[in-house]
Amino acid sequence: MQQVTVVDHPLVQHKLTIMRDKDTSTASFRQLLREISHLLCYEATRELEMTTKMIETPLMEMKAPTLSGKKLVFASILRAGNGLLEGMLDLVPSARVAHVGLYRDPVTFEAVEYYFKAPEDLEDRLVIAVDPMLATANSAVLAINKLKERGAQNIRFVSLLAAPEGIEAFTEAHPDVPVITAAIDKKLNEKNYILPGLGDAGDRMYGTK
Ligand code: PRP
Ligand code: URA
Repeated sequence: MQQVTVVDHPLVQHKLTIMRDKDTSTASFRQLLREISHLLCYEATRELEMTTKMIETPLMEMKAPTLSGKKLVFASILRAGNGLLEGMLDLVPSARVAHVGLYRDPVTFEAVEYYFKAPEDLEDRLVIAVDPMLATANSAVLAINKLKERGAQNIRFVSLLAAPEGIEAFTEAHPDVPVITAAIDKKLNEKNYILPGLGDAGDRMYGTK
């Protein structure tokens, strides 16, 4: 998989435009994020290991393709990551889930960790970390550091929107982790918000602020 994949599918781009609109309601924002996450998940899981098994259709026996290996792990970077997680679990309901609690310090923009819980055997599993926003990348880089410290070796990062600055910082820190995103925007503003962006993803998802 290439290091950065932009999923420029018409459905993704159409839904993302509605999400960016400041007049879009909290309920629609959440629903659209869930819908887009299905399409991002489709891309992020393209190269899952497969095997075959014998089954019987109503007409005959066949050797049919099926997923192999250990169940994958979705790692949600709280709290906005949960908006992507829900849709990912729609497609892969048997996946395991890790939660990485981080918030961005509003002054230093450093990521501050407040929670971490993950399955024990991360080294044997594909780990797909999810967070809608990759701005400075401080949060994503710390989250991946934590997952690697806990043994994860095969990791992908899925976001909805990324800033060029975030892509650069992330790929420098974790060149082994492919990034799948719906769009790379223009730049960060002086408060490290993505422009044009969509605002604060967590606040728009949960109606806070
Ligand atoms: C947002 C977003 C990312 C982070 C991105 O989370 O969901 O985790 O900011 O910014 P960065 O790339 O500059 O680190 P936030 O800290 O606002 O927390 P929340 O998800 O709880 O709202
Ligand atoms: N976090 C967000 O939710 N939005 C941004 O634009 C940057 C960081």
